[in-house]
Amino acid sequence: MNVYFLGGGNMATAIVAGMTQQGGYEIEVIDRNQNKRQYLSERYQVRTSTKLTELAATDILVLAVKPQDMQQATTGIRLNGALVLSIAAGLTISTLSQFLGNHQRIIRIMPNTPCQIGQGISGMYAPAGISKADKTIAENIMRTTGEVVWLEEESGINRIAGISGSGPAYVFYFLNALQQAAIQQGFSPEEAHRLTLDTFKGAVNLAEQSGTEFAQLQKNVTSKGGTTFAATSVFDRHQLTQVVIDGVAASVARAEEMQQQLAPF
Ligand SMILES: NC(=O)c1ccc[n+]([C@@H]2O[C@H](COP(=O)([O-])OP(=O)(O)OC[C@H]3O[C@@H](n4cnc5c(N)ncnc54)[C@H](OP(=O)(O)O)[C@@H]3O)[C@@H](O)[C@H]2O)c1
Repeated sequence: MNVYFLGGGNMATAIVAGMTQQGGYEIEVIDRNQNKRQYLSERYQVRTSTKLTELAATDILVLAVKPQDMQQATTGIRLNGALVLSIAAGLTISTLSQFLGNHQRIIRIMPNTPCQIGQGISGMYAPAGISKADKTIAENIMRTTGEVVWLEEESGINRIAGISGSGPAYVFYFLNALQQAAIQQGFSPEEAHRLTLDTFKGAVNLAEQSGTEFAQLQKNVTSKGGTTFAATSVFDRHQLTQVVIDGVAASVARAEEMQQQLAPF
């Protein structure tokens, strides 16, 4: 199966890594940046080029340039009915279709950075006219990088971007905060790093393996009047849960705003 990537940056590289590890795909990456082309061809033995002019109906094109570069990058490509997968934030099927000469065979995907290590989760949306076979092709590609979730509505792409798309950054934010707290308590930066990382890994694995609700797991280790309770009472006083909810809402609102700005009309 021939898969072309338009753009060979961070996210395209993550997907290429998963696909080449699994095998079975003929991959070509189109990027204007010589260093990226060289890295991709050396590291993953994929074909690279600077320009894409024509595809066949059986080919797959993954759109992986920044949203603001998309219109210019796609100009002049003769798709000949190929399946298009877009990972770009803020560009709707309707906008992409206009950029691509009223092309209709488009699926949107919202991956996240843990795709780099095969532990990503991608939100996927296909309009009603897309065949089951095309959905399976797209799903199989994204499954090489982790889990996938199909979304009922296109607006789900902006909403999932605010959770799993931006989510790794939220986790890094909290990791950094806990590391700073550990340093303040007298641990070396290295010790603080290890303590923070292992606490997260252990807690995440425990949550997954136990299958218990997060709130219940929290209760299980928080006796009233105890040490954990002293900390979570401070989090509650600062309404940390509400802060996170507001942060996600701001992210989704920004995605919707960007979508308006990126629409051609
Ligand atoms: N990073 C994430 O966490 C994430 C998550 C979900 C979705 N996405 C989406 O993934 C897409 C790619 O993001 P990214 O972080 O991987 O971007 P990136 O690292 O900047 O990669 C884009 C690449 O495309 C190249 N490019 C731009 N215009 C081109 C053209 N006309 N012809 C050939 N190559 C061109 C860029 O070259 P230059 O370096 O010269 O500009 C760059 O190498 C975006 O649309 C983003 O919305 C990203």
